[in-house]
Order: sequence, then structure tokens, then C-alpha cells
Amino acid sequence: MENASNQRNSGDSLMRRPTVQPTGREVTFGEDELIVSKTDLAGVVTYANDVFLRVSGYSEVEIIGKPHNIIRHPDMPRTVFKLLWDTIQSGEEIFAYVVNLAKNGDHYWVFAHVTPSVDAHGAVVGYHSSRRVPYPDALPKVRALYKTLCDIERSQPDPRSALEAGTRAVHETLAAKRCDYSQFVFSLSERTAMDLSV
Ligand SMILES: Cc1cc2nc3c(=O)[nH]c(=O)nc-3n(C[C@H](O)[C@H](O)[C@H](O)COP(=O)(O)O)c2cc1C
Repeated sequence: MENASNQRNSGDSLMRRPTVQPTGREVTFGEDELIVSKTDLAGVVTYANDVFLRVSGYSEVEIIGKPHNIIRHPDMPRTVFKLLWDTIQSGEEIFAYVVNLAKNGDHYWVFAHVTPSVDAHGAVVGYHSSRRVPYPDALPKVRALYKTLCDIERSQPDPRSALEAGTRAVHETLAAKRCDYSQFVFSLSERTAMDLSV
């Protein structure tokens, strides 16, 4: 039987996301708002709240049933999504800064909390992401990190070595800081670092 990662649609699959040209224009949303979506085990969107629809510019009909990479921004390192999937498929939660691409090419930064969704018997039936406005002091550090990771990935001859090199770079950073990825992410803003001793 195929496992969830085999079923997952990647950018290399036949279900390609629409080609949206980034405009370079940033859009924001309210500090009191949450952008929420849910997916099945393969990362296909099963639910998007009104804030998701408004900010991304997609209608419910356009987004439900589509792979979540429909809003993938080219500035996002593949390494971060590998980490995200590895983490949630092992049953853990993950926090991550993500830049997303709206339907019209505008982009919006979010601070995402992605978790497995379980049924009454504890079986993982899908995934859930809640995103809030990112902490502004973290963004310059996140942009620099993601640019470094994208550069590392692009310097490699093929997608597989790109992911390996990116993952190595992340692990080196975490080893130097003696923390895990979520702790590292929380350390990027003074607002969230207060809760940690990293
Ligand atoms: C619950 C959930 C929420 C996700 N949210 C996003 C998101 O907001 N933006 C995004 O680009 N990818 C998101 N992803 C990851 C995508 O499934 C996908 O891995 C990513 O867009 C990279 O696409 P690619 O593998 O085709 O390059 C999410 C995945 C899950 C399970």
C-alpha cells in the first residue's frame, strides 16, 4: 500500500499548480485574524476559512481539492517543506515562517502552526494549519535564512541533492545553536524567544 508521502503531490507531479508570476507586492492581514486550512494525508486541501480565501484570492471552489502547493512561493526553500512533512508525518507539530503566493501574484508572510489531525481512535486523518501575522523582528532573519537555503539548493545538480544539502545546512545551524527546529523558529523573534531558554 502506498504511504502518505508517496501519495503527496509535489511540484514535480502531474498536478502542477497554476503558474502565478510573483508581483513583489506584499499583502497583510489582521493581527487578530487566523488563516486556517486543513488537508488530507496527501496535502490536498479539504478546508479553508474565510480569511484564507480573502488573503489568497482563491474561491472555495478553486482551492478545495487542490494540492496545498497551489499557494507555494518560489522564495520558499524545498528544505523547509521537507522538514514540515517529515515532522507532521512523524506525528509531531511544527512552527514555521512561510511566504505564500496569492492568486494574483502578491505575497503574504505567515507564522504557521501545522499539526496532525486525529480521529476518535487517535489515527491521523489529515493535517491542520493555523497561521497568524508573523512577528516583524523575525522576518529579516527568516528572509536571509531562506535565501541562503534557496542558494544552497540551486547550487546542486538535482532536486535530491538540493534537499540533502539544504537539510545538512539546517542541521548544522541547529547543532551550532543546540536546539531543535521549533526552538530555533521561536528564537527568531524576541516575542517568542522569551518563552525559551535557547
Ligand atoms: C496542513 C498543511 C498546510 C500547508 N500550508 C502550506 C502553505 O501555506 N504554503 C505552502 O506553500 N505549502 C503549504 N503546505 C505544504 C505543501 O503541501 C507543499 O509541500 C509545499 O507547498 C511545497 O510544494 P512542492 O513540494 O510542490 O514544492 C502545507 C501542508 C500541509 C499539510
